[in-house]
Amino acid sequence: MKATATAPANIAFIKYWGNKPGNLPYSDTISMNLSNCITTTTVEWDSKLKRDTLNLDGINLSGPKLERVVKHLDKIRKVLGISICAKVISKNSFLQGAGIASSASGFAALTLAAARAAGGKLSEKRLSRLARLGSGSASRSIPDGFVIWQKGSDKTSYAESIYPPDWWDLRDVIIIVTRKEKAVGSADGHKIAHTSPIFKKRVNQNLPRRTAAILKALKNKDIELLGKTIEEEALELHEVARTSTPPIEYLLEETKRIIGKLIPQWRKEGIPVYFTLDAGPNVHAILPGKYEKQLLSKIKKELPGVELIINKPGEGARLSRSHLF
Ligand code: PMV
Repeated sequence: MKATATAPANIAFIKYWGNKPGNLPYSDTISMNLSNCITTTTVEWDSKLKRDTLNLDGINLSGPKLERVVKHLDKIRKVLGISICAKVISKNSFLQGAGIASSASGFAALTLAAARAAGGKLSEKRLSRLARLGSGSASRSIPDGFVIWQKGSDKTSYAESIYPPDWWDLRDVIIIVTRKEKAVGSADGHKIAHTSPIFKKRVNQNLPRRTAAILKALKNKDIELLGKTIEEEALELHEVARTSTPPIEYLLEETKRIIGKLIPQWRKEGIPVYFTLDAGPNVHAILPGKYEKQLLSKIKKELPGVELIINKPGEGARLSRSHLF
């Protein structure tokens, strides 16, 4: 009764911000899986255990982090029709809580490993719906490559692959501005997003327009259309957060310098690089793979010593034979 799964984090081109019960988004969202931000999770269901246990990156967790996982395991138990407890060990290939969606890779890997460890063979749709209940963006870490997550009801809101990872050789170079864990988690941000005065217009007008633009950009591999649209979208996410009640400010001065000065400057110097952001201060620099070297030499010059995570479009959640225990 043991299984191991790997799952990637993903970067959203169209963001999920604000939700309804069951982590249902107000609009469709689109993302790319990240090849170098991977969570590996082993789950063992064991009738001798009195409670669920979770070890993440070598630390036995308790409190709210454990409770969130236990709650998710409860939902999985319900779907699979089992009532025993689980031992969960999980490892991230990257840092958590700094705007890199470790909850997406974490809940996607947990869902696949837990279902498989109980002998369940759930469809990709079912796994995506179930992962969504742990963290909305985790629904998008189940399918491969470039992914769309449909809004809808509990039964119809799941993610599907639009294109495989090798469709477009893009890079997401994550520039780590800080390793500090963010003060307001996305779960709290979602709850108050609707209080922003710009939320309604965002959902009714801006997002349908941007979603169509991103689909067109992906289809035609049009970096300029993709880039302009993701920058607009990222800035609006932060405007919603900033104008919510209470307001949330995720960006640091260094973030603003990179997105406001350096990236536009690198673009002028001939590199088609554009930014996007998650709910955190780190910058995701998106560009075609053939410009990677040029970008890295600019970063080395302007941001010496900065930590980077270089990602290609990645596959979705997978089972693995190498267990963590
Ligand atoms: O899945 P959550 O609750 O961690 O929300 C993710 C929110 C953003 O990363 C800001 C946007 C997104 O769509 O991934």
